[in-house]
Amino acid sequence: MRYEKYFYETIDLLTKNNLLKYKGKIYKGCNGYPRVEVIDDVNDLCKNIDNPKVLEVGCGSGLNIYLLHSLNPNIEIHGFEYTNSRIASTIVNLFYTPIIKNLFLADVCDLKMPDNSFDVVYSIHVLEQLGQEKAEIALKEMWRVCKKGIVLSEPSVHGANLYEKWRMKTLGYCKNLYSVAEKLPNSKIIVYKEDTIRTYPNTSYHLIVKKI
Ligand SMILES: C[S@@+](CC[C@H](N)C(=O)[O-])C[C@H]1O[C@@H](n2cnc3c(N)ncnc32)[C@H](O)[C@@H]1O
Repeated sequence: MRYEKYFYETIDLLTKNNLLKYKGKIYKGCNGYPRVEVIDDVNDLCKNIDNPKVLEVGCGSGLNIYLLHSLNPNIEIHGFEYTNSRIASTIVNLFYTPIIKNLFLADVCDLKMPDNSFDVVYSIHVLEQLGQEKAEIALKEMWRVCKKGIVLSEPSVHGANLYEKWRMKTLGYCKNLYSVAEKLPNSKIIVYKEDTIRTYPNTSYHLIVKKI
């Protein structure tokens, strides 16, 4: 029932109903630790960068952008979605933030932007849906357009229970992208955590790859 409850809720509603404490900070409008960990990691990667520029791939309702902006308003955040309806929800939710001017439509498998356009590129539960072949293309695109590194949180086959494994297989989810990330040019995997947090209906892995 998670999707029924949360999928189309506005950030205002989430903010009223959810308060999540993580590393001593309260995150408003948040329905899970995995996304907070990712947001925190994106912020960490931006440390020591002057005027950091960050891109969220498949930003959905805009919740992750909202959290990152609340955490660090100095980051210039951009985000894109694949469909009109999804970008519409992002626009509605981020209407009163400066990020409104940085939202656009795009396909992560074919980013029409130059190499190294953003310092950090991140994504939460987007590549999963593309299937293995397209997810690999997407990861390479994210790598191409980032200058410093990428942060990724996706459902993990490892640690998944029988139902979760069946669900991922039936939906044609991509498998783990670790081995693809390892082979990205000039890459160093600095964090890889499997099955650290279980949020129905998935268990997520957490990957941070830095450019060296
Ligand atoms: C499960 S939602 C996650 C949304 C958001 N990242 C979050 O954490 O709430 C997956 C999102 O990926 C987007 N998506 C699917 N295919 C995409 C593509 N090829 N390029 C960019 N976004 C895509 C969908 O439109 C959808 O909003």
